[in-house]
Amino acid sequence: MTARTRIERLDEDGLGTASLGKREVRVPFTAPGDIVKVDKTRKKKRKLLATEFEILKYSELRTEPKCPYFGHCGGCLLQHLPYRDQIHFKEAKLNSILGIDVEVVPSSKIFGHRNRIDIVISTKGIGFRRYGTWWDVVDIEECPVFGPSSRRVLSSVREFINEEKLTLYEIGKNTGFLRYVVVREGKFTGDLMVNLVTSQGDLPSSFPGYFEYADSLYWSVNRTQSDVSYGDVEMFWGREYITEELNGVKYLIHPNSFFQTNSYQAVNLLKEVAALVDGGKVLDLYSGVGTFGIYVGREGASVEGIEMNPFAVEMARKNAELNGVDAKFEVGEDRDVRNLSSYDTVIVDPPRAGLHLRLRRRLIHDGPENLIYVSCNPKTLANDLKELRERYRVEKVRGFDMFPHTPHVEVVVHLRRME
Ligand SMILES: C[S@@+](CC[C@H](N)C(=O)[O-])C[C@H]1O[C@@H](n2cnc3c(N)ncnc32)[C@H](O)[C@@H]1O
Repeated sequence: MTARTRIERLDEDGLGTASLGKREVRVPFTAPGDIVKVDKTRKKKRKLLATEFEILKYSELRTEPKCPYFGHCGGCLLQHLPYRDQIHFKEAKLNSILGIDVEVVPSSKIFGHRNRIDIVISTKGIGFRRYGTWWDVVDIEECPVFGPSSRRVLSSVREFINEEKLTLYEIGKNTGFLRYVVVREGKFTGDLMVNLVTSQGDLPSSFPGYFEYADSLYWSVNRTQSDVSYGDVEMFWGREYITEELNGVKYLIHPNSFFQTNSYQAVNLLKEVAALVDGGKVLDLYSGVGTFGIYVGREGASVEGIEMNPFAVEMARKNAELNGVDAKFEVGEDRDVRNLSSYDTVIVDPPRAGLHLRLRRRLIHDGPENLIYVSCNPKTLANDLKELRERYRVEKVRGFDMFPHTPHVEVVVHLRRME
């Protein structure tokens, strides 16, 4: 099958959408106005996705992507759109999903903003997964979205492999020693962490010599067949944690802890949440490493945090101590949280699945006056809002572009309890 068609719009996942006879086809890495020749398609989630295609004529909307791997690497889908159009795309997406006009705050940096990359080390290449595959890897020398230190680390990894004749992981077969290298950087502190993830085996003792410039160097072992970029810490050299500093608040980063991936935009997100806090008693629910709780605690609030991951809670406690904040973080589940009305403000930042049904019901029956909902998934946010509106009025909604060049967007919703 070969057909020529014109891209009309982007869908919510950032894929160009065009008519193909009576059906619609999605074409990745395209812009509205592109003329494409589609040679082959496959069904993906009941939609038609072009897997072989050629762009015959480029739309005038396009800009030159900065990254040489754009169009192959699965990391960025929108680098070919000028940044203001990426923001318009995200505003339109939120408008269509939430039914509310939402302004999206742009990221102050759109390259070098990511503070973490997970690089696959495999027989297919050392880099990122090829778009649309789990088995193929695009070999890269640098990731512009992370910044120049990615080049340095990638070059050291290759040198280490070549000189020590190490074996690389074979995706699908579960053979080979080296699996991932995860690089994390404090954008406001300059701290650098390198975590090499291997299968079980012996790491040559020369390893630390290749990464002397890293402030913190880890070796982790993934003993499972799961293709994940973390494992049990086997050894570390240098500092146990690196630090990131957001608007004067310090956060420790460990290889196995989560941290907001765009430090520059995280500052804006934190300022927004802090400005919406009302009253002195605050619950930070789904508190992770305490990012929100500690920030608002620094501004004087008395904070309690609840989070199901015990390691994240341990990190949150360390972060509170580091900043001299008197906040209490406890391990707990969203569905068990009670007495929500005893807090002046509750901040919720749930995972992509949204609020647990039982928590949603409790918020409706016995919720605080002031509720701040931080969401990374507008679809589950829309569902939750539908119910919360029984007792809450939406006062303000703002998007934050934490993830330039991707279709994702973070949203902060301010809700007030109605009489
Ligand atoms: C979007 S992250 C929030 C991160 C946090 N605000 C931060 O910046 O570190 C969602 C958090 O919810 C936690 N979580 C997931 N399911 C949960 C549950 N059922 N009860 C409590 N916490 C949960 C995850 O471990 C994760 O830390």
